[in-house]
Amino acid sequence: MNLLVTGGAGYIGSHTCVLLLEAGHDVTVLDNLCNSSAIALDRVQQLAGKPLRFIEGDVRNRDDLDKAFAGGIDAVIHFAALKAVGESCAQPLDYFDNNIGGTIGLMQAMEQHGVDRLVFSSSATVYGQADTVPVKEDAPLRVTNPYGRTKLVMEQLIQDWCTARPSVSAVLLRYFNPVGAHPSGKIGENPRGEPNNLMPYVAQVAAGVRPFLRVFGNDYPTPDGTGIRDYLHVMDLAEAHAKALEYTVARTGCDVFNLGTGRGYSVLEMVAAFERASGRAVPCEIQPRRQGDIAELTADPSRARNVLGWEARYDLDAMCGDAWWWQSMESCDLVSPESQPGTMVTTLCRTAQARHPGEGGDPRPSGKPILNVDDQPSAVEKRLPPSRKCFTTAKPVNDVAEDRG
Ligand code: NAD
Ligand code: WQD
Repeated sequence: MNLLVTGGAGYIGSHTCVLLLEAGHDVTVLDNLCNSSAIALDRVQQLAGKPLRFIEGDVRNRDDLDKAFAGGIDAVIHFAALKAVGESCAQPLDYFDNNIGGTIGLMQAMEQHGVDRLVFSSSATVYGQADTVPVKEDAPLRVTNPYGRTKLVMEQLIQDWCTARPSVSAVLLRYFNPVGAHPSGKIGENPRGEPNNLMPYVAQVAAGVRPFLRVFGNDYPTPDGTGIRDYLHVMDLAEAHAKALEYTVARTGCDVFNLGTGRGYSVLEMVAAFERASGRAVPCEIQPRRQGDIAELTADPSRARNVLGWEARYDLDAMCGDAWWWQSMESCDLVSPESQPGTMVTTLCRTAQARHPGEGGDPRPSGKPILNVDDQPSAVEKRLPPSRKCFTTAKPVNDVAEDRG
């Protein structure tokens, strides 16, 4: 198929593009790079061994959309959105304009270009504080912040569009907590400034970029008192988009699916798993609850399994191992040529490469679940002291101004 991927340079979009290209699709990416870099798209093409068409532009701009649709598009995957909860509370109108305005413009352009298949990135945030977990798709929807409201409104607009246009086929995918990176370590999550989300924060603490993890509350009604979430590997998530595309070909109307593993992990369990995967200590400090946080949210993913034929395959060790490999590789990329052997950054890169032999690369084919047996920290890594140093100046420690974690 000829596919338009909005937001394809971003974290989830870039991983999905690799799989789509590998599956033989032709891909056009429309992205304004407000939270990403074109370098990610170079790497996507390297990984897939196939070119894509990139249009640097905005989904709110009609000319950009017309350029993207020129030449014929069969289906759209719509990732482009702003996604930082805190920022959405401070700047709600920007979020309404970008996310809701962008989605309306996209649907108008789809209608005018005769494109009627849409896969949409929604979020578990639409469930807010669910009454029971694991949550099913028909649970009450109640959002708690402007970002969440944009996702709920966009879902409703797409549903109304499907009702008005019986030829349209849309799939709303409610992601739970995507983590991890492409097993090659070439692409991954790269939050600007201080990360909002748990996994990139833990990775930066393990790497010594940040001194400790602030654990937001240990007095929740959960076994260890910390919040429980349903983390899923970004490669599994990418795969779900391919399945959702197939589904839009087979039927019309609007359908919704939870994407998670169905298994929850607490903050402290995540920290322990990351320490195992990286061989590094992740110091923690218990702090008060984060405003708006909930105790526990996990998916019932059975509908995606039964209807789409999709199921998460990567386990927690793979999520943490690939996130650590990406963090380590990213640090290697940032090493200045004058770095001397023995400095913290060189040691980190060496140990990362020892874990993943080859050209800074990984012999595992992308999309294949990784095995846990060989992923134990090496003796060398176990001996490494936890670093308190900031080993790269490319990642400011206290830059919160542009945080879009
Ligand atoms: P991301 O910020 O890495 O990617 C979003 C991409 O969209 C970026 O490349 C950005 O430059 C682009 N973009 C934003 N506004 C645009 C516009 N107006 N025009 C063109 N491009 C624009 O985020 P992500 O984590 O990859 O998330 C992708 C989608 O998944 C988003 O819709 C997000 O809300 C949703 N989602 C993400 C998570 C998560 O935890 N990462 C969870 C649930 C849902
Ligand atoms: C997970 C757990 C925190 C950071 C958010 C958005 C949601 C969705 C996914 C897009 C919680 C704890 C975190 C830290 C911590 N995004 N934590 N210290 O809250 O489930 O969801 O991202 O749609 O909309 O709200 O994910 O990764 O922020 O937090 O203790 O520094 O980790 O309290 O229990 P969350 P998260």
